[in-house]
Amino acid sequence: MATLQVSEDIRDFENSPFGEKFCPWMVQSRFERGRWQPFEVLAASDIILSPAAKGLHYGSEIFEGLRAFRSSKGPVLYRPGMHARRMAHSARIVGMEPLPEQQFIESLRALVLRCESLLPVFPGSLYLRPFMMGTTSRLGAGIADDLLFLALATPFGMKLDPARPKTAGAWVSRDFVRAVPGGMGSAKVAGNYASALRAMLQAKAEGFENVLFLDALERRWIEELGGMNFFCVEDEVLRTPPLSETILAGVTRDSLLALAKVLGMRAEERPLAISDLLEGIQSGRVSEILACGTGSAVVALTRIGDTGITHQVADGNPGPFTVRLSEMLFDVQFGKAAALAPDWLISC
Ligand SMILES: Cc1ncc(COP(=O)(O)O)c(C=O)c1O
Repeated sequence: MATLQVSEDIRDFENSPFGEKFCPWMVQSRFERGRWQPFEVLAASDIILSPAAKGLHYGSEIFEGLRAFRSSKGPVLYRPGMHARRMAHSARIVGMEPLPEQQFIESLRALVLRCESLLPVFPGSLYLRPFMMGTTSRLGAGIADDLLFLALATPFGMKLDPARPKTAGAWVSRDFVRAVPGGMGSAKVAGNYASALRAMLQAKAEGFENVLFLDALERRWIEELGGMNFFCVEDEVLRTPPLSETILAGVTRDSLLALAKVLGMRAEERPLAISDLLEGIQSGRVSEILACGTGSAVVALTRIGDTGITHQVADGNPGPFTVRLSEMLFDVQFGKAAALAPDWLISC
């Protein structure tokens, strides 16, 4: 389907794949004549772009993904400030003028309110997809003078169950890397996802849903998945690789590190070698592996595939750390447990 599909009936979203149908509203703002113009809420529809728009040729396209929940205090955005700052970071990396944080948040609040009748109840949410691209109509690589910011909304996650995180497998990419030092790995730039596709296809062909990327230089250190950050539980300690310029600073990653402390778990950021992880799975030292991101929340990685061998993690079911973190994350997002900072839940 090459045109935008919208619906006002929540049942349409329950029965169609994620990201195929959208709420009938979107927000738009343009950067023109050297400044960001006020945002508008418009009927969601296809857009008209010059075929010479820079974003279509030279990769000036960045995006975010965040969620709105129907909490006990009404509709809320989850950590929109952190998403706004990450989008500003992505914008700077590709030479775009960042959208001011306040405008980012206000425009999404307005969108959620307009789409409120399609905001699902627990455990569902409204997934918001703000994105920005260079629209200057001129061939030739370079900075775009004109930018377009849009945000779409789609109901999502009505079948997620906090107490039963989804399980999935991850395949270790030995041939392809996602990001290099000095590159764009810490940004949510469209090109990063294009460069991850070959690895993704290989993983699928091997029977795995996700790719586990290693560092580009030594091909030794675990970085992250194609669209989620990585954690393991080793000797009862929750571990994740430290942030770097080759890892996307996930909002969910940051949330889990904070929530782990509240739950009394020991948590640390430290480099994780793939050989140690695989050896730890074999010996039982690594008892759980999990991935996290806005879309899927917490996912138990129960199978790691590497060079033709599948390593099953523990008994192949989500472990206790994974389940507790998943439940706690939902509790915070729906306002059932106190958020750790006042800006975690912003009313719409
Ligand atoms: C490459 C990558 N890493 C990690 C994440 C998780 O980030 P977040 O928790 O902010 O959704 C995402 C998803 O946005 C991603 O695309």
